[in-house]
Amino acid sequence: MTIQKVGVIGAGLMGNGITQTCAAAGYSVIMVDMNDAALDKGLNMISGSLERLIKKEKITDSKKASILTHIQITTDYAKLSDCDFVIEAATENLQVKIKILQQIDKIVSPNAIIASNTSSISISQMAAIVSRPERFIGMHFFNPVPMMALVEIIRGLQTSDPTHALVHEMSLKLGKSPISVKNSPGFVVNRILVPMINEAFFVLAEGIATPEDIDNGMKLGCNHPIGPLALADLVGLDTTLAVMEVYFENFSDSKYRPCPLLREMVAAGYLGRKSGRGVYHY
Ligand code: CAA
Ligand code: NAD
Repeated sequence: MTIQKVGVIGAGLMGNGITQTCAAAGYSVIMVDMNDAALDKGLNMISGSLERLIKKEKITDSKKASILTHIQITTDYAKLSDCDFVIEAATENLQVKIKILQQIDKIVSPNAIIASNTSSISISQMAAIVSRPERFIGMHFFNPVPMMALVEIIRGLQTSDPTHALVHEMSLKLGKSPISVKNSPGFVVNRILVPMINEAFFVLAEGIATPEDIDNGMKLGCNHPIGPLALADLVGLDTTLAVMEVYFENFSDSKYRPCPLLREMVAAGYLGRKSGRGVYHY
């Protein structure tokens, strides 16, 4: 089987980045979201990201135009019927993902592969929702997708070897470096990264240092490209909190308790860059 047409569910931070990356590798891509405003915002982000790559002389104007011709947008799930591969990159919420997977499952061909870009939710649990769980897999990209080299490929209990092999091959075709990971909350990278970000919120809440000093500390002291609070703003505070909630619930260990300040900021609508305000203002 070869993958030619890719469906991406969600036009948010990750969905539009995955769409761009797949289109740049020559796949024909259809990006789905719930309304036209979300789709337009996603397309604008793709255009802005491609402009940045032109400025950095990584792509040409004509490559940008050609990438955009590979992308279709729609609110109609039925248009996914001829996709060989569909990746779910919608909001980090199990109930949202269950509904989406049930919809996709009814539409795509029996041979299609269904993947999730979830940051933390169980791949085995999601695989159990679709009719061919052996063709379900976790394909976890990193933000911003066009810039980040890693893809975590996560096997659920049910994922077959051919499914894993195809997604491994696709990751290489996208120019990414895949690692293979067993299903477990947060997989490898987020299991380590997100508790560190959560701890930065505790440090902030305890008034130990300003946001700028916390971030500069980790940049200058640990050579991180951006500090943990700026990273939370990039990832989305809602997504960061959702990931901590998954750990807290699944490991039943108080070391994963979400910082109350993080929870309060999400409740206030301070979601990070995507809402114009998080720890910092944008
Ligand atoms: N497309 C989209 N966004 C881009 C981009 C592109 N082509 N190029 C850069 N960005 C973003 C940056 O976030 C930032 O935004 P502003 O300019 O608006 O402030 C900006 O664009 C920085 O651009 P620069 O060109 O100045 O920076 P850079 O190219 O030197 O580095 C970076 C940008 C690679 C993102 C770097 O800051 C970095 O590595 N940051 C850490 C990223 C990281 O850790 N990501 C993982 C997050 S965790 C995750 O993804 C998993 C999960 O499940 C939550
Ligand atoms: P986001 O909030 O930027 O975007 C989510 C998008 O999903 C929104 O556009 C929303 O309208 C759409 N959506 C919600 N329900 C939908 C439905 N039923 N059908 C179609 N679209 C729907 O979120 P994001 O940061 O792009 O995260 C998406 C997924 O990727 C999550 O599972 C998240 O954990 C994961 N992820 C996020 C990051 C990150 O740094 N933000 C990194 C890796 C993985």
